[in-house]
Amino acid sequence: MAAREPVGLNYRHAYHAGNFADCMKHALLVCLLSLLQRKPGGMMVLDTHAGTGWYDLSEARAERTGEWRRGIGRLLDDPQPPALEPYLSRVGRLGLYPGSPAIIADFLRPQDRLICCEFHPEDHAALRARFAANRQIAVHHRDGWEALRAFLPPRERRGLVLIDPPYEATDEFDRLAAGLIAAQHRFPSGVLAAWYPIKHRGPVRAFQDAIRAGSLRDVIAAELWLREPLDPARLNGCGLAIVNPPYGFEEAAAPIAAALLERLGDRERGKGTELLRLAEE
Ligand SMILES: C[S@@+](CC[C@H](N)C(=O)[O-])C[C@H]1O[C@@H](n2cnc3c(N)ncnc32)[C@H](O)[C@@H]1O
Repeated sequence: MAAREPVGLNYRHAYHAGNFADCMKHALLVCLLSLLQRKPGGMMVLDTHAGTGWYDLSEARAERTGEWRRGIGRLLDDPQPPALEPYLSRVGRLGLYPGSPAIIADFLRPQDRLICCEFHPEDHAALRARFAANRQIAVHHRDGWEALRAFLPPRERRGLVLIDPPYEATDEFDRLAAGLIAAQHRFPSGVLAAWYPIKHRGPVRAFQDAIRAGSLRDVIAAELWLREPLDPARLNGCGLAIVNPPYGFEEAAAPIAAALLERLGDRERGKGTELLRLAEE
């Protein structure tokens, strides 16, 4: 069968970098990486939909939506919530707003490595140029879904896979459920983290039902809603599904989500956070 042509190349993360959903994803990514690095063994991190790595929030695309002002723009004011310190200190230190590859690269120890896949030609070229001199990081112009088959399992048998697609294709939730099942099958000891949008309830419920009904083991989801998810045209919240969460993640994630909601939520009905268990260990 011919390989499916990747879709979603209208999406450019530069319009959305630093928004509330990026803050949730990146604060939890920092938490996952910190917990994984309590063990000295080397690990491989696979970032399947990597973006450009760094975002200038003063450039026209970021200014046009202004999304970052209601996201990272609200978090950097003093006093900064202690639960967000590990994330916010990196945002401050890494200069431009750091995307997932920049955050992961900052964590790499000599024994670790990072594989990034980005399918947009310009974004791929920008990321590749950024990491050209770093021998621990490989940047591929490759379909991120296909990368789950190509790069798993890693030789280290330890690691994290971040799956962060643009959700431009209507079946992206279905691909996510199938991708997680395939990835855990190939890499049972790996930690998998998948970001998803919460616009209205239907697609999120269907995704969660697919996880509950499938063969995945040990899955939780951390969700943040700014308001009741009733308007399918708005990003009302977001979630991160985590397969094989490292020990201590649930205890660490709850105060992070609460601190994000405290700063990022307005007085809207239905705002909240939740940690859900979708599949038992
Ligand atoms: C939400 S953004 C990624 C943001 C990034 N993970 C971060 O946190 O900084 C999604 C990215 O996936 C890219 N993309 C779209 N379809 C893809 C595919 N099939 N394979 C790999 N990348 C793809 C888009 O160009 C975009 O840069």
